[in-house]
Amino acid sequence: MIKNQFKHVAIIMDGNGRWAKSHHHRRTFGHKRGVEVVREIAIRANDLGIQVLTLYAFSTENWKRPLEEVNYLMKLPFYFFEKYLAELMEKNIRIQMIGEMDGIPEDTARVFKKAIEKTSVNTGMILCFAMNYGAQAEIVRGVNRAIVDAKAGKIDHVDTTTFQNYLYTKDYPPLDCMIRTSGEMRISNFLLYQLAYAELLFVDVPWPEFTPDVFEAALQQLSHRDRRFGGIKNG
Ligand code: IPE
Ligand code: IPE
Ligand code: MG
Repeated sequence: MIKNQFKHVAIIMDGNGRWAKSHHHRRTFGHKRGVEVVREIAIRANDLGIQVLTLYAFSTENWKRPLEEVNYLMKLPFYFFEKYLAELMEKNIRIQMIGEMDGIPEDTARVFKKAIEKTSVNTGMILCFAMNYGAQAEIVRGVNRAIVDAKAGKIDHVDTTTFQNYLYTKDYPPLDCMIRTSGEMRISNFLLYQLAYAELLFVDVPWPEFTPDVFEAALQQLSHRDRRFGGIKNG
């Protein structure tokens, strides 16, 4: 196992549909396989000592997909937690969620809340699902919350540091790196504020084929980057 230096890692889990199609299956087959990959990657990330693993599971734009696919995606948390909650408890992993919980079907929200509550006693890695998440919506929500606090006289302004308290990720360490699978080189409305100084890696492997060893190799590759944060080397 590699020596990991990252505290907060985010992944855009992309390519389920194309992977399934290329194997002559329906897109949903890829999503099902994708859930197994979530388990494998979460366990390896926890073993590597990552503190927060944020996985993009459903975007605010994914509602545009056919209803059948949306419904299937909303059912996957049931399957995931039914199958793996006991193991996550054993591994001391905490489940959390970012995104608009109010916008997802009530029973899906309930299964998430139960998993979040049950695992809240754990002290290991936070496995954070970005669910009904959009970065632009997150920023606008943050602005509105800051306005409420300003009107209540609690603050008179925000700066780039204090504004982070209005984001979903306020309790997490700064985002170190972001990996996107399946070869697309875009952000698709994920963590726009948090990505400011994250290292980005785009890998061609589709999510259903993203193994723990591929994950480690990706982290290894990222660990060689020279992170200067606007400064200069040896400065
Ligand atoms: C990622 O795979 C899963 C979600 C976005 C929910 P996709 O479903 O986007 O698969 P592709 O990118 O169409 O292959
Ligand atoms: C981003 O993938 C969202 C998730 C992985 C949940 P998409 O497949 O929805 O993104 P686009 O449409 O290729 O930008
Ligand atoms: Mg996609």
